[in-house]
Formats: sequence, C-alpha cells, structure tokens
Amino acid sequence: MPYDLIVIGSGPGGYICAIRAAQLGMKVAVVEKDQTFGGTCLNVGCIPSKALLHATERYDEAGHLFGRMGIGVGKPKLDLPAMMKFKDEAVEANVKGVSFLFKKNKIEAFHGMGRLAGPGKVEVNSSTRKAQTLETKAIVIATGSYVALLPGIDIDEKRILSSTGALALEKVPQRLLIIGAGVIGLELGSVWRRLGSEVVVVEFLDRILPGMDNEVCRQFHRIMEKQGITVRLSSQVTGVSSSASGLQASVAPRAGGSPATIEADVVLVAIGRMPYTEGLGLSEAGVKTDNKGRITVDSNFATSVPGIYAIGDVIAGPMLAHKAEDEGVAVSEILAGQAGHVNYAVIPNVVYTSPEIASVGQTEEELKQGGIDYKVGKFPFMANSRARVNLETDGFVKILADAKTDRVLGVHILGADAGNMIAEAAVAMEFGAASEDIARTCHAHPTLTEAVKEAALAVSKRALNM
Ligand code: FAD
Ligand code: NAI
Repeated sequence: MPYDLIVIGSGPGGYICAIRAAQLGMKVAVVEKDQTFGGTCLNVGCIPSKALLHATERYDEAGHLFGRMGIGVGKPKLDLPAMMKFKDEAVEANVKGVSFLFKKNKIEAFHGMGRLAGPGKVEVNSSTRKAQTLETKAIVIATGSYVALLPGIDIDEKRILSSTGALALEKVPQRLLIIGAGVIGLELGSVWRRLGSEVVVVEFLDRILPGMDNEVCRQFHRIMEKQGITVRLSSQVTGVSSSASGLQASVAPRAGGSPATIEADVVLVAIGRMPYTEGLGLSEAGVKTDNKGRITVDSNFATSVPGIYAIGDVIAGPMLAHKAEDEGVAVSEILAGQAGHVNYAVIPNVVYTSPEIASVGQTEEELKQGGIDYKVGKFPFMANSRARVNLETDGFVKILADAKTDRVLGVHILGADAGNMIAEAAVAMEFGAASEDIARTCHAHPTLTEAVKEAALAVSKRALNM
C-alpha cells in the first residue's frame, strides 16, 4: 500500500505537517536523516538556545536583582556542566515528545537520508540498513537549513563555532567574538556575556537586527552596550588566524581603511542560514530552486514537479519554526482538499534577549517605504506599574495604525516577556482590529499587557498613565 504522504525532514515544518495529515486521515511516513526527530529547532536551535537563555537569565537575576528584593543568596556559582545537562534534558524531553506524537498518530518513521527517486518515490539510504524505496501519492520536502559559512573561516566547532558549537561549550570563553548582530549573535552573545565572557559583535551593516523596527533596535542596542556587549557596526571580519595566545580576527571597516585585530578565545559565525537540499536529488527530479538555493513553490506550496511540495526554511520567507509549522498545517490541509493557507502578514518575530524584542506586521520603515499614512502610539514600561514592581522598566510598546481606518498595521515591543505579549497583537491583527479595539479591551491589572492597551490609547493621544 503506497503512502498518501511522505514528509522528508522531521523539524517543526515536517513533523507538524505529518501530524496534521494523519489527523485528516492520510497514511503518512516521515524520513529523517538524523538519529533524533525535531530538526534544527528541537535539537540545536530554538529549544537548547531557550534553555540556556532561561538558565543564564536566572543566573544574572540572582547576581543582580535578588538583593534588591531582599533575597540574600550570595554570589551565584556557575556549574556549567549542570547547566548543559539541564539544556540537554530539555532537548531530550522535546525530541522524545515528537517520537510519541508519531506513534500516537500512527505515522511511520524511517531513519535515513531521503532522496527523490522518480514520480511518487522516495529512496531512504542509511549506513545501517539496505536502501529502501517508499511509494507515495505526495511528497513534502521539509529539509530545513544549515549555517551560512564565511569563505576562509573554517568552523571546527571547538574554537570557531556555528550556533551548534556555541550551545555546547565546555568552558566559558574569556573573550568571545561574534560575526553577525542578527538574532543568533545577540541571543547567544547574551548567554555567554551573562556567564562572564567579554563579548564583541562585528556587524556588516550599520545597525543590529536588520529587518526589525529601527527605533526598537536602536534602544535595544544601547541597553546591550550597557549590559557589556560591544557591537562594531559597518565592519567585516576578513580572516581569523590562530596562535598560542588564541585567535586573531582581522576586522575591517566596510567603507575601507586599515583593518584592526581583535583577539578572541572563541569566534562564533552567525551570519544567517542557507536552505538545505543536499542529497535530495532535486535537479534530477526537475525541482526548481531560486538564486538563493531555496525550493520554488507556488501559493499551494507546490514545486515545479507535480506531487512534490516544500515548506519551512527550505523555501522563501522568514526562517522561523512557527512559520514552518503553519506551512506544514496548510500544505496538509491543501492535500486533503481543504483551503489551507498562511497569512504571511501576521507572523510574529521574537528575539529572546533581555529584554525581549517582539514584533508582528510592518515596521515604521516599511510603512514609510510603502507610502502608507500611519499613526503611532507608544507607551514606555517605565510608566507600567507591574514593570516597576518587577524592576523591568526597560523598553516600550509601539503600535502603528492606519491613519484613516485605524487598522493595526504593526506592533513592536521591547520589554520583559515581549515574546508572550506579542500574541495579543497577532490575534488582533488576524481579526483586522483597529487600535481602538485593543484600547477598549479590558486588560488585567497589574500586568505588563496594560502597556499594550496604553500604547493603543496613545495612537489617539489618550494614554491614561503617561
Ligand atoms: P529543520 O528544523 O531544519 O528540520 C529539517 C530536518 O530535515 C532536519 O531534522 C534534517 O536532519 C532533516 N533532513 C534534511 N535533509 C534530509 C534528507 N535528505 N533526508 C532526511 N532528512 C533530512 N526559530 C524560531 O521560530 N524561534 C526560535 O527561538 C529559534 N531559535 C533558533 C536558534 C538557533 C540557534 C537556530 C539555529 C535556529 C533557531 N530558529 C528559531 C529557527 C528554527 O530552528 C527554524 O526556522 C526551523 O527549525 C525550521 O524548521 P524546518 O522544519 O523547516 O527545518
Ligand atoms: P540573521 O539573518 O538573523 O543575522 C545575520 C547577521 O549577520 C545580519 O545582521 C547580517 O547583516 C550579518 N552579516 C552577514 N554577513 C556578515 C559578515 N560577513 N560580517 C558581519 N556580519 C554579517 O542570521 P542568524 O543570526 O545567523 O540566524 C539565522 C536564522 O535563524 C535567522 O534568520 C532566524 O530566522 C533564525 N533564528 C531565529 C531565532 C528566533 O526566532 N528567536 C533565534 C535564532 C535563529
């Protein structure tokens, strides 16, 4: 009996796609090349990074905040192997959860490298078993992404690291140099800074976190510098050499001029990720890719070859777990004859630093570029009672609404727990809310979410606590 669907890759895109297809009555198999399920996100991405961010934030609080609340614990002592064990256990619990869900939904799982082997056929190759060819009505490619490399700078995961190595260091590096002030650079830079590293981030552009609201990022940049992370903008690392005393990175201004040398014990390369399509046999199968190597799909996630679909990091769009998941649900629903779709205008984006940065919808820069007339409402956490109680007053909420219709076009939050608070904005935007709808919704007191309501009130210049 052929399968209705074979999913290649078990990351958040692939495993969620498989579960939704099984819920809709399809006979489903998943092919995964790695030993554990869950992909980048569960094994070496979202989950381990958030475990270390959570643990180190508590460590930082114990050292700096507890005393102000009358809690005397003395200077916190770091047990790095125990912290890494805590992180590994979080990963293990999550990847085991995926195996459980496969069994529960009667999804057959195959370990091995999946390759397109003709219409309706997927070959599974593993070093421990004979190659198998599986037959199916439809194939979804969800093979994710891998670390983008810098020519001449070879990652050995010991001293020159990708995010994977930076999640598993055995000792705290004294000097950590990070190439790229994107989300990985700032999250993992925060982890190691909190544990005592001197962190320098070198960024090619003239700002951090490209693509996110500039006003938010400017304020976050200042906070980060206060926390002790140094950022060198408009600069590039042109090479890294090693000597007995450590690593020497050559850092040149983007505009030209003589390079400086930055000494480091460890270098983290975090300049983005690339779609992973190696070994899939795309060109032999006739599956088209774009100039960035991403699989080209139409609005139904269909590739250039009938019966083959693709989702997640391997196609265009933000490389986010929840975007991959939503595409997984949508493609299964489309295969089942339903109207699955993803609203790309409302995909939240969160940077899990301290404070967090969260956004959904358009930035002010995008609205200006698009010639859209908009109103702005802002409210600082300094004026929010709960933030003051919690000693978490950094940041603000900013709501952008259409000048004529008042429809919410974008929400940007810099502040503690911003990642949770952004969900309210996403729901509001999905329902086409006006800023007045948020402003007239009762928000519990005292909560940080009152700052969202106040920012909505501020859109029509009637914030109450400011
Ligand atoms: P992946 O998760 O990459 O899964 C692809 C799977 O396919 C892998 O298991 C791979 O082994 C398998 N595979 C590849 N080729 C084959 C083949 N030929 N045969 C069989 N199997 C194959 N996103 C967020 O939204 N929030 C976060 O907090 C976050 N934190 C991150 C932190 C880090 C350090 C990193 C690196 C990424 C983070 N991301 C985060 C991004 C997120 O991990 C990705 O967007 C997400 O994993 C993409 O899901 P996917 O299913 O498309 O691919
Ligand atoms: P990124 O795209 O977020 O940032 C890369 C940064 O490196 C950019 O600022 C870019 O300008 C800079 N850069 C590029 N080339 C450079 C060079 N040669 N020298 C100096 N700087 C250079 O990529 P990152 O941080 O590697 O993360 C990869 C992806 O993983 C992200 O796109 C994101 O979608 C996902 N991710 C998401 C997280 C979240 O949602 N919280 C957490 C971690 C990763």
